[in-house]
Amino acid sequence: MTTSPPYAMLAELTHRCPLSCPYCSNPLELARKEAELPTETWVDVFAQAADLGVLQLHLSGGEPASRRDLVELVAAARASGLYTNLITSGIGLSERRLGELDEAGLDHVQLSLQGTDAAMADRIGGYRGGFDRKMQVAEWIGKIGFPLTLNAVLHRQNMHQLPGAIDMALKMGARRIEVAIVQFHGWAMQNRDALMPTAEQAQEAQQIVKDARTRLKGQLVIDFVPADYHSDFPKRCMGGWGRMGLNVAPDGVVLPCHAAQTITGLRFDNVRDTPLGDIWYKGDAFNAYRGDDWMQEPCRSCDMKTQDFGGCRCQAMALAGDPAATDPVCIKSPHHAKLQERAAEFAAGTDDNLTFRVSA
Ligand code: FES
Repeated sequence: MTTSPPYAMLAELTHRCPLSCPYCSNPLELARKEAELPTETWVDVFAQAADLGVLQLHLSGGEPASRRDLVELVAAARASGLYTNLITSGIGLSERRLGELDEAGLDHVQLSLQGTDAAMADRIGGYRGGFDRKMQVAEWIGKIGFPLTLNAVLHRQNMHQLPGAIDMALKMGARRIEVAIVQFHGWAMQNRDALMPTAEQAQEAQQIVKDARTRLKGQLVIDFVPADYHSDFPKRCMGGWGRMGLNVAPDGVVLPCHAAQTITGLRFDNVRDTPLGDIWYKGDAFNAYRGDDWMQEPCRSCDMKTQDFGGCRCQAMALAGDPAATDPVCIKSPHHAKLQERAAEFAAGTDDNLTFRVSA
C-alpha cells in the first residue's frame, strides 16, 4: 500500500485552557506549560508540515489563545503556505488581538459553543462569564470578517439547545456549524453517566439536522457527528488511521489521533528528535493500523472496510480492550449488544454531576 501525504495537521499548541469542559478530548494527564514546544520549534514543524504536503493547519489546544506567541505562530504558518484555522473558545481574544491575527493572515475561526445561554454555557464550560465574553468575541469576528464555523458539542444536558445553536450560527453569520454529539474519549469517558444522550435524543438530533439542512441549503453547512454508542455503524475515525492527518501534542509528540496515547504498546515519536516526514511515513504508531493488514474478522472480510476502516481504534481499545478489534459501535462486533445496553444504562442516569477537566 502506498501512503499518501497528510492533508491536515492539528497543532495542539497547549493543554492550558480557562475552561474545564467535562467532555474535553485532551488526555487525563495534561502537558504542563514547561513541556510545551517553544515558538521556534513550532515554526519549524509548520515548515516541515508544508514540505510534507499538509494543506490545512488547525491550531487548537487546550485554548490556543493561551499561547502568547499565537500571532507569531499564525504568521509563520501562513509564510509556509498553510491554510490556518484557529479553534478557540474565544476566551483570551481581544478585539486588538483578533486584528493582529487578521494581519498575520489567519484564514478561519472555529468557535466552540458549550450552550446557547449563559446558564448552560458557563456551567458546562466551568467558567463564569464565559458565554458573554464569547458573544463579544463572535461580534468582533463578524466585524473583522473572518469566515466562521461554530462548534457545538451536544450531550444529554444541552441536547435540547440544538435548534437554538443552529439559529445562533445563522445570526453570527457563520458559514458552517459542526454539531457533534459527545464522543467518549479523554474527560468525557469520566462523565458517561452524566453526558450520555438517550437513544430518543440521538434520533431527534439527527432529524433536526436533516430538516435544518434542507431548510438552510446554500445558507449554512451543517456537519454532524452522531451519537455513536446509539449507532449500528462505526465512524470513519480520522478518515482512516495514518491516512489523512496527524496531531502534534503540546510537547511535540506526534499522534495519529488525539486519543492515540490511550492505546498501550504503541511507540510515539517526537518532533524534537525525528523529522515529521519520517514520523508520518515510517513511524511505528502511524503504521500500526494503516491499510487493512492488521484487521481481524469480522472487519477483514467486510465490504465496508474500505469505507469505515473498522471504525475507531481508540474506541476498540477502550471498549473491547483490543485496538485491532472491530469498533464495538459496529453491529457486527461481538461487543455491540453489550455496548448498547450500557449506553441505555448511562443514558437513564439521573445524576447530572460532572467531573470537570482540571487545568494543566
Ligand atoms: Fe483514535 Fe478514533 S479517536 S482512532
